[in-house]
Amino acid sequence: MFNLGNFIEDCKVSISKDQSHLGIKALVESAVSSPGDLIAALGPLEKAGATTIYHSDELTIVNVTWAPWMTVFPHNHNMWAVIGIYSGREDNVFWRRTDQPDGLIEAAGAKSLCVGDVTPLGKDIIHSVTNPIPKFSGAIHVYGGDFFNVPHRSEWDAEQLKERDYNSENVMNLFETFPTNS
Ligand SMILES: [Fe+2]
Repeated sequence: MFNLGNFIEDCKVSISKDQSHLGIKALVESAVSSPGDLIAALGPLEKAGATTIYHSDELTIVNVTWAPWMTVFPHNHNMWAVIGIYSGREDNVFWRRTDQPDGLIEAAGAKSLCVGDVTPLGKDIIHSVTNPIPKFSGAIHVYGGDFFNVPHRSEWDAEQLKERDYNSENVMNLFETFPTNS
């Protein structure tokens, strides 16, 4: 049975022993293997949002609820991440930098994640995320550092794919745009 407090403690122990994502990946895999238990612990998926479950200099755990059809523009994290899906779907597009001006990026790959899927993201990954279904999707995102205090992060505007400084308000405004069930 998933227990949120135990999950947080297990993640803290893992990161204290090994700064890599490997231990966290195993913990997230275990958590999303019982998606009903996760929903019971985290609450129903009723509103788009990113709720911080735990936050320290070494580790950030976020419960992300994607609204139907919601897409977040390309961005980087500058730290590794582990994403695990416990409801719905999450499609990731991965991008790479080009030698064009304005930090232009181009698509480099994609990964469709379903319930129970877990994927690690390297610290240099640039990705955009889409919920491709007409219902809310839920994911646990664990980051290998202080996600809210990362210098030199970037985001790319979704239309022209030009680089700009990351602004967390842009993502939060996006979540506010999709506040209710459809
Ligand atoms: Fe991200």
